[in-house]
Amino acid sequence: MDYFEIEGGRRLSGTVTASGSKNAALPILFATLLCPAKVRLRKVPRLHDIKTTLSLLEGVGARVSREGETVEIELAKLSSTEAPYDLVRTMRASVLMLGPLLAREKSARVSLPGGCAIGSRPVDIHLTALEQMGAELKLEAGYIVGNCPRGLRGAEINFRFPSVGATQQIMMAASLAAGRTVIRNAAREPEIENLGGFLRAMGAKISGDGTAEIVIDGVPALSGAEFEVMFDRIEAATLLLAGPITGGSTRVQGMETDCLEAFLGVLRKSGVAVNSGEGWVEAAAGAASHGADFETQPHPGYPTDLQAQMMAFLAQANGISRVSETIFENRFMHVPELVRMGADIRVEGGQAVVHGKPGCYQGTTVMATDLRASASLVLAGLVAKGTTRVRRIYHLDRGYESLESKLSSLGGAVVRKPE
Ligand code: EPZ
Repeated sequence: MDYFEIEGGRRLSGTVTASGSKNAALPILFATLLCPAKVRLRKVPRLHDIKTTLSLLEGVGARVSREGETVEIELAKLSSTEAPYDLVRTMRASVLMLGPLLAREKSARVSLPGGCAIGSRPVDIHLTALEQMGAELKLEAGYIVGNCPRGLRGAEINFRFPSVGATQQIMMAASLAAGRTVIRNAAREPEIENLGGFLRAMGAKISGDGTAEIVIDGVPALSGAEFEVMFDRIEAATLLLAGPITGGSTRVQGMETDCLEAFLGVLRKSGVAVNSGEGWVEAAAGAASHGADFETQPHPGYPTDLQAQMMAFLAQANGISRVSETIFENRFMHVPELVRMGADIRVEGGQAVVHGKPGCYQGTTVMATDLRASASLVLAGLVAKGTTRVRRIYHLDRGYESLESKLSSLGGAVVRKPE
């Protein structure tokens, strides 16, 4: 297992380019199960979760080839409709195979994803909606076994919570279902719109993606397409914090501001100067920093995937911040590690109270627990006095493409080392 060794205290400044989005690429890759013809996807990031997804697609008979950031997939005929436990357990998003397999082959056997560090991660919203579309689902030895001998049919679906994954699941399943599906209280994340764009490129009849009500009219078959994955807004925002946390500035190019408004608003409230132009955003340390309260919410609210990173920043700002996590039940695991580095953070119920103090961080050895918590520890290490070792960075490799080289290009001293 590798770890990062970070020499703190350097001011980071410069320009980096955002990679393609992990959370847009994963559902788009699963959507290729719906199409028998060749599909070409550009800006697919080189990440562990992408590798896992391509293995799952090959496992059902897809021919996969990769050239840099471009991936080609062709699945003329399926050899299996199973997503095995040993792959699914490493990546919860694999549950998104269920809808496409049912839509294309009328059967599916997908391992239950199980929980992860940040929560139990149930999939009840996915399953209830698929049953409304005519799928017969049962749980057998840890697998979801699904059949729909007469094919899926359109339905009026009201989500009790705007689940990102469940919205993507039903958009894909409904693309080939008989009749109209309406999803109400749908998730509105930008990655949902990106998936909608890809499905339309293959000939699906979908409208309303990005709003709370999505309408899909099923079609008999989809055709091949070429499509570009959107930029990774979570990676971009993490990189935007790397400059200001060290007293410097970061410009991220290849990104748009309109899908990060809530994050940029909190950044401005904390005293960071934010500027933007055609396809780039810049964040620079202000003359003074302040605390800033925020609460994670479904899009367009503050993204839960940026909660840990912002907390690492606010712990060294000047003032008190109250951070509420409303999306996941256990997403403060970075707090004990940040406290070990010198942060003053107290968790009371679903809220963390951060008593920010400039210069609070001391380098030490810390342990990554989940993908975004790891990123918060790296950010703290950039500004800590002395050396910080972040262990178990395989969590980081799931969602950040060569983070160490991007941070080094900004002037950071971040080296990957084998345990
Ligand atoms: C997606 O997960 C992202 N993953 C997550 O990013 C992100 O944190 C999350 O959306 C929220 O924005 C991918 O896109 C691959 P949800 P997803 O369904 O789809 C509960 C990262 O770091 N829920 O919107 O699993 C669930 O337990 C990852 O990149 C149910 O109760 O998120 C959670 O509390 C982490 N029943 C809340 O809803 C269900 O059937 C949000 O889950 C589904 C979800």
